[in-house]
Amino acid sequence: MKLLVTGGAGFIGSNFVRLILNKYPDYEVINLDALTYAGNLDNLKDVEKNENYRFVHGDIRDEDVVDKVMKGVDAVVNFAAESHVDRSIGGPADFIQTDVYGTFVLLEAARQHGVGRYLQISTDEVYGSIKEGSFVETDRLEPSSPYSASKAGGDMQVMAYHTTYGLPTIITRSSNNFGPYQYPEKIIPLFITNLVEGKKVPLYGDGLNVRDWVYVTDNCEGLDAVLHKGEVGEIYNIGGGNERSNIFITNKILEMLGKGEDMIEPVADRLGHDFRYSIDCSKANALGWTPAHNFEDAIKETVDWYLNNEWWWKKIKSGEFEAYYKSQYDKKA
Ligand code: NAD
Ligand code: TYD
Repeated sequence: MKLLVTGGAGFIGSNFVRLILNKYPDYEVINLDALTYAGNLDNLKDVEKNENYRFVHGDIRDEDVVDKVMKGVDAVVNFAAESHVDRSIGGPADFIQTDVYGTFVLLEAARQHGVGRYLQISTDEVYGSIKEGSFVETDRLEPSSPYSASKAGGDMQVMAYHTTYGLPTIITRSSNNFGPYQYPEKIIPLFITNLVEGKKVPLYGDGLNVRDWVYVTDNCEGLDAVLHKGEVGEIYNIGGGNERSNIFITNKILEMLGKGEDMIEPVADRLGHDFRYSIDCSKANALGWTPAHNFEDAIKETVDWYLNNEWWWKKIKSGEFEAYYKSQYDKKA
């Protein structure tokens, strides 16, 4: 099987590429990634010499490069996206360009080349917030942020390509991932690394917003199950079953790092901040997938990883990130 993975130099994509190369030694993986601020070849240092792996530096919006890499491909897995809600609030344009238009370029090339399977990596955020109960795959989309609206736009095109052209597409919508190689702008790696650096952690609003946390390798196993056993034209929710408030997550990280609540810095709430995400994953479970990690072990593994891999995050935080971070929080102060 020849797989085209897009956005494979990011957080989830790199964990997925590693999982596939280790689990299926006869698969060929091409990783097409534009290396935006979030793309990082350090994420795949351990597999870069694998002879079944090839990195192509390119943009999913570039029809020529996409046409070239699509030749002879059996399946496409599209992770490439702008992925951070706060950045989308600050400037939505790149989100629409990559998450909507970029998805269209991939779909069109997949159709032209007769690709056997197209897997779109989407998010539970497309459903919007839910006070009680959990979303199923047929629920209407009600995205709140420019990020989730762009992802919903991508999903809609994927469905249209299936309905209109019969492209064998599948969509996965996962909950919040955490684990190794997550860019330290998302809450868990940001808070761990800030505390290691002796900085405070900026908690939005009252800290009561709830997310469902899935360990990244569990999500990747779910994606693998869907890629191989999912039904075309279908959508699969992939969640961890670990709903936690932000204040719970914050206190957990503080406790693990031996820090007190004085390190919490309450800051203004995010605009349009979704209160709670929750998804029903029975459909993915019916494929034989369930998350292997419990939250307590996985958060400990995650904290340990960031403690043991300062080489990975220190250079990120000392560069472009600092300028971005400062501009965000100067605005909020
Ligand atoms: P990430 O921001 O860490 O990585 C995104 C990757 O895509 C980067 O390597 C970046 O260089 C690449 N990229 C961006 N624009 C590109 C373009 N135009 N062409 C080619 N490559 C481009 O994101 P992530 O957290 O790994 O998320 C991966 C996917 O999973 C995204 O589609 C995201 O919407 C989805 N998702 C993420 C989460 C989460 O908790 N992180 C949850 C649900 C769904
Ligand atoms: P985030 O990691 O950005 O993921 P998403 O917005 O995609 O769910 O945020 C997770 C939650 O943490 C969200 O409710 C916003 C909150 N949050 C903070 O309180 N402080 C922060 O600095 C960040 C980045 C997020």
